[in-house]
Amino acid sequence: MVILLDTSPIVNMCYYEFMIRICQPEDIDRIYFIINEAAKAYQGAIPANYYHQPYMPMDELKQEMKRMTFFGWEVNGGLVGVIGLEPARDVTLIRHTYVLPQWQKKGIGSKLLNHLKSLVATSRLLVGTWADAHWAIDFYKKHGFSLLPDKDELFKTYWDIPPRQIETSVVLEHIEYTENKIKCKGGK
Ligand SMILES: CC(C)(COP(=O)(O)OP(=O)(O)OC[C@H]1O[C@@H](n2cnc3c(N)ncnc32)[C@H](O)[C@@H]1OP(=O)(O)O)[C@@H](O)C(=O)NCCC(=O)NCCS
Repeated sequence: MVILLDTSPIVNMCYYEFMIRICQPEDIDRIYFIINEAAKAYQGAIPANYYHQPYMPMDELKQEMKRMTFFGWEVNGGLVGVIGLEPARDVTLIRHTYVLPQWQKKGIGSKLLNHLKSLVATSRLLVGTWADAHWAIDFYKKHGFSLLPDKDELFKTYWDIPPRQIETSVVLEHIEYTENKIKCKGGK
């Protein structure tokens, strides 16, 4: 597929080839780069004791890649954004949505999220993020997610994160998605 990303001025028109694909083990170095570059947005926003570089060390990423499927957005043969899909008991978790800073706000996160939504087979689709990451919360809200009041219980049930991090994080659920699933089950 070919997409026109830059239309102004016309002399600077650039064509990019893009695709969404499942990430493979050999993508690990690029995923590591994308996550840790994009996570620099957290500096000064999330509690200081949780911000460090690399934000996600390689050993942690290796463990995360075992528990979830990463999808990537590729431009001209190189990954520029990733999103993880993690089945967790009776729900699906969106994990680690990261787009390289220079590629943000061009619709790539939305494409990745929509692709992931199309693959979800459970009745609930949840995502957790930092309470202070207002841009990420806005991003998910624009895509039909709402903040949940029972986030502490949800974190304890479906995630594997330290208690202090639970205090400073939020859970959002894709409400339309859940409602549609309930309607389908009800045969309406
Ligand atoms: C959140 C993120 C994945 C969104 O990807 P993206 O490709 O930029 O998203 P899209 O272009 O599809 O959507 C843009 C929307 O996301 C939000 N957003 C993305 N980047 C933003 C930024 N730097 N500041 C404010 N809002 C931002 C806005 O709601 C924006 O809508 P707008 O353009 O109407 O203002 C990306 O910004 C990112 O990697 N951020 C840093 C890491 C992070 O917070 N990840 C979330 C982990 S749960």
